[in-house]
Amino acid sequence: MDYLLIEGNRPLHGDVEISGSKNAALPMLMASILSEKITHFTNLPRLSDVDFALKILVELGGNVRMTKEQSSISAYVEFTDQANCIAPYELVRKMRASISVLGPLLARYGHVKVSLPGGCAIGARPVDLHIMVMEKLGAKILIEDGYIIAEAKKITAGDIVFPFVSVGATQAAMMTAAVADGISTIRNVSMEPETIELGNMLNKMGAKIKGLGTETLTIHGLNSKTLPGSSTPIQILPDRIEAGTYAIAAAATRGKINIKNAIPEHIEILLYDLKESGAIIEKTSDGFIVDATRMDKIKPVDIVTAPYPGFPTDLQAQWMAYMSVANGTSTVTEKIFENRFIHIGELFRLGARIKHSGNVATVFGMPKLTGAPVMATDLRASASLIIGALVAEGTTEIHRVYHIDRGYERIDEKLKNLGAHVTRLREG
Ligand code: UD1
Repeated sequence: MDYLLIEGNRPLHGDVEISGSKNAALPMLMASILSEKITHFTNLPRLSDVDFALKILVELGGNVRMTKEQSSISAYVEFTDQANCIAPYELVRKMRASISVLGPLLARYGHVKVSLPGGCAIGARPVDLHIMVMEKLGAKILIEDGYIIAEAKKITAGDIVFPFVSVGATQAAMMTAAVADGISTIRNVSMEPETIELGNMLNKMGAKIKGLGTETLTIHGLNSKTLPGSSTPIQILPDRIEAGTYAIAAAATRGKINIKNAIPEHIEILLYDLKESGAIIEKTSDGFIVDATRMDKIKPVDIVTAPYPGFPTDLQAQWMAYMSVANGTSTVTEKIFENRFIHIGELFRLGARIKHSGNVATVFGMPKLTGAPVMATDLRASASLIIGALVAEGTTEIHRVYHIDRGYERIDEKLKNLGAHVTRLREG
């Protein structure tokens, strides 16, 4: 297992190139199950989660060919009329996004068996809405021995109203209703850029989804088992969470970085909060610049996570690390996941002062943090430790780096290019 050694207290400077979005790529890869044509993906990020998603597609019977380029992966995925419609616990446990095979496999092959994902580091993360979607679209569902077993001779259109916004369940509904017999209306849906991009991909493949980016989707089902497929490549959009993480790191270290190949409109709320805290943000032709070199003190800014366009839960931990060195007290309210505060204990080890009660954390800004050995617990928690380490005086060891490698492409290399002192070492 690798770990990172970071000597902190140095401002980040220079350019950083943002990779393709992990959260967009994973469901889009799974959507290729529905395609009659070979799907060609470009700009997939070089991440262990993407390797894993491609492995799952192979396990399910897909033909996958991929080429690794210096900073991305290109892949060709093909499914035929034969597949293995079982996603076992070993797969789903490792990557919750595997649950998104449920709809495409059911639609194309009429039956599917997917393990229930179980709990994870950030909370219970139930799948009742995914099941509700499949039932509304005509599936018979059985929960047995830890598996969701679904069957449907035909997908039938349905009207679905989500009680609250779920990214995964919205995406499941889109993929499945796209081939249904009839017109489905889906209300209170996710408006996340990754969901819109999945919709764009499905439409390129022949689906008829209207209302992307609004609260209601109308889907004219093709009354088929498959979608015709896309004859042009599917390019993965830039990762807004990676861009946001570097933006926060620039501000926290009082540096100045040019974030390239990014879409600032996808993280408007973060950029607004960064400005409130005292950083200067300037949009460029291919991204944006964060300049905190003239920021004397970091102004505390409260955040509340919410579905898009609200503050992303995937940037909450990083923001908390930033506020740990603000000039005053702020609050961080987590509204998406009940248990997404595990990073507090590790930030504490760096000298942060944070108290939490329920889903509200109060962050008492300190003049400085100090390096210490810490342990990454989940992907975004790890990113908050990296920000803490970059700000801290002295050396921080971050263990269990595999969590970071799931979602941040070549993070040590990118940080080194920005002037950070980061070394990757092997445990033992
Ligand atoms: C969520 C985040 C997404 C983030 C991802 C990884 C939101 C709305 N979603 O997406 O931004 O990138 O985690 O961190 O910000 N839920 C149920 N039943 C279900 C499905 C979900 O109760 O069947 C609940 C979840 O527990 C959670 C909420 O719905 O409280 C939103 O979860 P959902 O958007 O579905 O999760 P992900 O798709 O994993």
